[in-house]
Amino acid sequence: MARNVKHVLIGREEIAGMVRSVGARINADYAGREVMLVCVLKGACVFLSDLMRVLDVPVAIDFMSVSSYGSGTSTTGTVRILRDLDADIAGKHVIVVEDIVDTGLTLRYLKEMLSTRRPASIAVCAAFDKPARRKVHVEVEYVGMTIPDEFIVGYGLDFGGKYRNLPDVCVLSDDDGQGGTK
Ligand code: IMP
Ligand code: MG
Repeated sequence: MARNVKHVLIGREEIAGMVRSVGARINADYAGREVMLVCVLKGACVFLSDLMRVLDVPVAIDFMSVSSYGSGTSTTGTVRILRDLDADIAGKHVIVVEDIVDTGLTLRYLKEMLSTRRPASIAVCAAFDKPARRKVHVEVEYVGMTIPDEFIVGYGLDFGGKYRNLPDVCVLSDDDGQGGTK
């Protein structure tokens, strides 16, 4: 069944305000330190590029790509690393930048796995959070916005690889299951 954009859930101005406020918290918390932003591809690329430009602490960036969804339409719980970091994060203050926390499986795995590499500290910054769908507990230090249990696209988030370029966060019509690619 085809899905189309039904309505805007979060407009671009509201998103920009969210980025400024989460950035201000990070600036305050990390004053005097350097941060390594780890962007979880592909969904977080838009958030990363906005977030890094509101930070006034010294920033380095790196990218990783994981897959938490199987071939079906729901989370399997299996997280695979498709692309690992270039950088050694030992001794670094790492902030994992994610698009959205849904079941929590991806972030819980990533946080545990990256912690074994001995960073000085590790925190998570997610643009959006859907707490209603959480399956496992994971500490998310910075949440941009909490949203209701709806499948959203835009601002980096996709359905079937599409809609990442929409500047607003939108809800799709024809709810025939959730799925997406990173
Ligand atoms: P989790 O492991 O279930 O928390 O999965 C998080 C990942 O699922 C996110 O990084 C997204 O790639 C994807 N995802 C979860 N909810 C949505 C949504 O509403 N729209 C688009 N992608 C989503
Ligand atoms: Mg993602």
